[in-house]
Amino acid sequence: MSQPELTLVLIGFGNVARRLLRLLEESADRLDFTWQVVAISTKHHGSVIDMAGIDVTRAISTVEGRQSLDRLDPTPHERSGIDVIRQVAEAAADEAAEGRLVCLETTVLDIDRGEPAVSHVRAALEGQAHVVTANKGPVAFAYHELEALAESVDRIFFFEGAVMDGVPVFNLVRETMPAITIDGFRGVINSTCNFILSELERGQEFDMALAEMQARGIAEADPTLDLDGWDAAAKTAALVNVLMGSAMTPHHVARTGIREVTGLDVRDAIARNRRIRLVASATRHGGKVRAVVEPEELDHHDPLANLVGLENALYLHTDLLGEVGIVQRTGSLTQTAYALLSDLARISQRLRDF
Ligand SMILES: NC(=O)c1ccc[n+]([C@@H]2O[C@H](COP(=O)([O-])OP(=O)(O)OC[C@H]3O[C@@H](n4cnc5c(N)ncnc54)[C@H](OP(=O)(O)O)[C@@H]3O)[C@@H](O)[C@H]2O)c1
Repeated sequence: MSQPELTLVLIGFGNVARRLLRLLEESADRLDFTWQVVAISTKHHGSVIDMAGIDVTRAISTVEGRQSLDRLDPTPHERSGIDVIRQVAEAAADEAAEGRLVCLETTVLDIDRGEPAVSHVRAALEGQAHVVTANKGPVAFAYHELEALAESVDRIFFFEGAVMDGVPVFNLVRETMPAITIDGFRGVINSTCNFILSELERGQEFDMALAEMQARGIAEADPTLDLDGWDAAAKTAALVNVLMGSAMTPHHVARTGIREVTGLDVRDAIARNRRIRLVASATRHGGKVRAVVEPEELDHHDPLANLVGLENALYLHTDLLGEVGIVQRTGSLTQTAYALLSDLARISQRLRDF
């Protein structure tokens, strides 16, 4: 079969989406699909719909030059992300029916209700598009509803980039662990907090370490979401919803962030051969799941204690395999972009399998 061509709609065009487009171009000779972007929607940089295909290099330089994408649109006008999705779903009805239309949702995390990302995903699935997202909101707030909708319209809803970037967590369990029950997990899953704690150990200032994470595009757009543990709580809710079959939102996670942790605290712990890390965990008790995000002082034998800088790890507690560990030694925008690329590749594989 010839290579499928995916028609892409980008809702959100920030660090992750722009890195993804560059990565798709850099990886062209490794991909078993081709692609074309027909729409991009942002909050403050306008939107563009061009069913003939958008020049992505120009779109990237337009946004990085702080200009509006409207200037690339044949018929520019103000529209929301939902308007863009609906307009493209109508204009690309053939591609949608053939399963070649994909919505890439990379807007920022909204910690109140996961909106408007949840509505973006819903609208895309209703328009028969597959959805790939790096945004934790949809899976942390509405996983069961959106997965049921995706199944009912025979489309894919993938979100590998929501936890630990491109290192497989959801896809690993889905693809390689049939018949396993996950009864809990424990992990370090927020890179910004782990980097700050590691830098404090080296005598660096809290604010300087945070500024570095912001400069590298790794901190959340609103960094209080990292510092107050909300990002880790959203990931924890996502993991509980998908891997443990329970239904919770980030607001059900007992949460303490790292704002109160000082350089003195972390260096005092090190002097006692211990380390402070922001730990996310969930355990099933009877029919109920309890989830917690909090700084813990860990013994140096604990594998989570040895994670420094951008390293993350997640240990799943399973019934048939015991404890299974997934470790991410390096984190970067490329890894997040790879998560989206790998989800696109799986959609392409599905098209080829038909
Ligand atoms: N950066 C990472 O390392 C990383 C890692 C894993 C997961 N993620 C997740 O990936 C997502 C994107 O991250 P990022 O670093 O690319 O964020 P970002 O650089 O802040 O970009 C966010 C994009 O979303 C747009 N946007 C916000 N609200 C919107 C709305 N209502 N409708 C349409 N567009 C909207 C923004 O437009 P304007 O710029 O015009 O405001 C911007 O283009 C986030 O959910 C984040 O949590 C990021």
